[in-house]
Amino acid sequence: MPAELKAQIKVQAHIEQGHHTNDQRMWIEMIVYSIILLIVISGYYFVQSSSFTGQTVNRIVADLSILLIGISLILSSVCYFWNFADKYIIYRKHMGLVGVGYMILHIVLSTVLPNYAPFPGYYLTDARIMSFTAAVLGTIIFALMGIASNRFAIQEIGPQLWRKLMRVGFIGFAFTLYHFSSKGMPYWSLWFMGESRSVIPSFGLIVFMFGLVVIGLRIALWVATANKHPEV
Ligand code: HEM
Repeated sequence: MPAELKAQIKVQAHIEQGHHTNDQRMWIEMIVYSIILLIVISGYYFVQSSSFTGQTVNRIVADLSILLIGISLILSSVCYFWNFADKYIIYRKHMGLVGVGYMILHIVLSTVLPNYAPFPGYYLTDARIMSFTAAVLGTIIFALMGIASNRFAIQEIGPQLWRKLMRVGFIGFAFTLYHFSSKGMPYWSLWFMGESRSVIPSFGLIVFMFGLVVIGLRIALWVATANKHPEV
């Protein structure tokens, strides 16, 4: 059975068991959880660098965005292999869209903050153009997914095509991992070699490792389902 279909069946089962699906309440819950996560990530940055600038805020928002999108994407893989996260699958759409909201904030900050001026010249230098291209591609994919994440769009394009579109999210996710790892990798390597001034890893590295788990679990899912269903 395709993973997205199994995820949808689990959502349906959850609703039939009488678990709450008050959409408005779920949005509020997700926004509140995201703010709690924002505070936790900010605390981590503060402990690590003890300074707080506009650039720090931009990085925190970016990390939060990719974390939420990543959790939303990983849920279908996790719920395919295990049952422990089934009760969270109903939040998948809300989590992804709140993540897209923070993504938009990150993009706005990345264009208006003086650290990244002049726009777009800053991004078009040899050292940044690849990372920027990956960022733009990721943005387009996540924006399309966001637009297609409503009941009307699902009905219009049909559930099968919609499930395929949702899988494109992993390509957008991979672009994003490249987007920020190309800048972070030299610093992360120093940390792995024990040559970094900081004892704890940068939060970007933690997010990157989580991102690899998201992609890894999706590959495991493809392998596990490839023989059962050719189109997964
Ligand atoms: C055109 C669109 C985008 C632009 C111009 C952009 C710009 C940037 C810039 C300048 C940084 C470096 C921040 C710094 O260290 O000061 C960055 C990092 C990052 N971006 Fe983007 N970005 C874009 C799209 C995205 C998207 C779509 C995502 C994910 C949903 C994303 C997630 C991240 C993450 C996770 C980081 C690393 C933050 C850290 O240092 O931990 N970005 N981006």
